[in-house]
Amino acid sequence: MDTKTRPDEVVNRPRDVERLVIGKETSDGAGVRLTRVLTHDLQRRLDPFLMLDAFGSDDPDDYIAGFPDHPHRGFETITYMMAGRMRHRDSAGHEGLLESGGMQWMTAGAGVIHSEIPQQHEGLMAGFQLWLNLPARDKLCTPWYRDFAAAELPRFITEAGVTATLIAGESHGVTGAVTREATSPLYLDLHLPAGTRFAQPLPADRNAFVYVYQGRATIGETGVPAQRLAILSNDGADGVVVSAAADGETRLLLIAGKPLEEPIAQYGPFVMNTQEEINQALADYREGRLVASA
Ligand code: CO
Repeated sequence: MDTKTRPDEVVNRPRDVERLVIGKETSDGAGVRLTRVLTHDLQRRLDPFLMLDAFGSDDPDDYIAGFPDHPHRGFETITYMMAGRMRHRDSAGHEGLLESGGMQWMTAGAGVIHSEIPQQHEGLMAGFQLWLNLPARDKLCTPWYRDFAAAELPRFITEAGVTATLIAGESHGVTGAVTREATSPLYLDLHLPAGTRFAQPLPADRNAFVYVYQGRATIGETGVPAQRLAILSNDGADGVVVSAAADGETRLLLIAGKPLEEPIAQYGPFVMNTQEEINQALADYREGRLVASA
């Protein structure tokens, strides 16, 4: 795919950082060590996003057992691999190998049971999994998934020299790999050379956050070190401006979306609107009815 050069956008009143959050070290699946960056207590503030996990290790013992068969219902998972590979298999008969730099978008909808098993590449495995909520009316939709190879992800370079990979939404006149009407998710992976800045216009009603995974960024007056989530304020702003440190490349995720403002009821891998719907999901899973018939 051609990498387009795009003029820099203009933001007059950039958002400030409302709060910096340090991720929580945890393990999930069959013992995969990861950092939960967007935790349960931030689901309302960062609606429509439910979770962001960062995983990255050069020790296969930290991840090689992966995530054996487990269910999901009611939301979407977006897995972005920075290094290594992830083998995916689900109850609808889909199977895929997500390679380094690639992205998998999975809509669990009414339900899938799948496994996600990492495979090391030169010992290293690193990536992110973001959970995006579905509106109440779509929670029981037909499951869907697609793997995007690195070369299939839309990418552009700004005049300032920032490389942007557009996983979801629209930016600088480019449309991302996936778009969603209800939540308008914007998901950008930005590589900013030392001393550069990136401006992204964004309506004030969108909840937005930045996760720096390499280097150090500045947003407004606030320095944002690596491994920090910066929740961006919504007040009277028309966009986001991030600047890279002067002494090295900064890499970060910029993620934003339109809040659903619907009740959230979560039990592990099920995210619905009410406790009754969670009970139904558990019963459907136990009795083998979770998987929607095609
Ligand atoms: Co899963």
